[in-house]
Amino acid sequence: MKKFLVIGNPIDHSLSPKLHNYWINKNKLKAVYGKLETFENDLFELTRNLKEGKLDGLNVTVPFKNKIIPHIDILSGHALRTKSVNTISVDNGNLIGNNTDIDGFELSIKNLNYDIQKKSIFILGAGGVVPSIIYALKRMNVSKIFLSNRTHAKAIKLKQLFNDLTILEWGKLPNFDMIINATSIGLNKDDEFKIDFKKVGSDKFFYDVIYEPHQTEFSEAGGKSKNIYENGFNMFLFQAQKAFNIWHNIEPEINEEVVNFLKT
Ligand code: ATR
Repeated sequence: MKKFLVIGNPIDHSLSPKLHNYWINKNKLKAVYGKLETFENDLFELTRNLKEGKLDGLNVTVPFKNKIIPHIDILSGHALRTKSVNTISVDNGNLIGNNTDIDGFELSIKNLNYDIQKKSIFILGAGGVVPSIIYALKRMNVSKIFLSNRTHAKAIKLKQLFNDLTILEWGKLPNFDMIINATSIGLNKDDEFKIDFKKVGSDKFFYDVIYEPHQTEFSEAGGKSKNIYENGFNMFLFQAQKAFNIWHNIEPEINEEVVNFLKT
């Protein structure tokens, strides 16, 4: 029986176990996928368990996508260039750090048939998933990326990885075609954006990385006529599909059945 885990903190909300166990059953594999609320001190033991064959793979989520890197033997190109690992596989006792968030984001855009080339993008937030989003946006040839984060220093740090980013003060609004909410605003009731979305024109694409249903000024503005609104649900599905493929060498199906199963 192969064993997989998603590690992170908080982890309660994660749909990964439900999705992976569904695909494991569909494909009649002898495997099980669980979740573990994790603290930084646990990373050494968890990765040692992988090396010793007590675990077969890990998904890594907030806040460990970067912190896990010192425990990894080999990074894929995507993981190396974003300094972000969300999927660990094992090859001959070596831990391989992969990043499937990049493909997840890219496929979610392609799935919408949105022509993102030459578009101007505004990202809110600088957390764990943002390097992957920037990397994917650049691969899709956007023309310009603005980024703003409440803690300015974290935005500046991202500029060390991607030097053509334009960093804006929190609360400032540039001209853009697509705005991406990569903050966790909306998960806590009292959080708010310091942005007046009424000043944003129409025909904009609002992309919310959060996938739990929630109502914020951001989702409201995205829901206005002529705007497009997408949340992170499809990105979540596609990154999971890629991770499943890495571990089991099978591309599991994404269809209405699995979507309905996850939503009940
Ligand atoms: P981490 O920062 O540990 O990687 P994350 O969930 O990936 O965690 O990122 C949370 C993002 O939401 C951060 O960009 C955070 O901004 P800070 O860097 O200033 O913490 C942002 N965020 C969370 N709550 C916020 C709030 N109330 N207002 C503005 N930004 C917020």
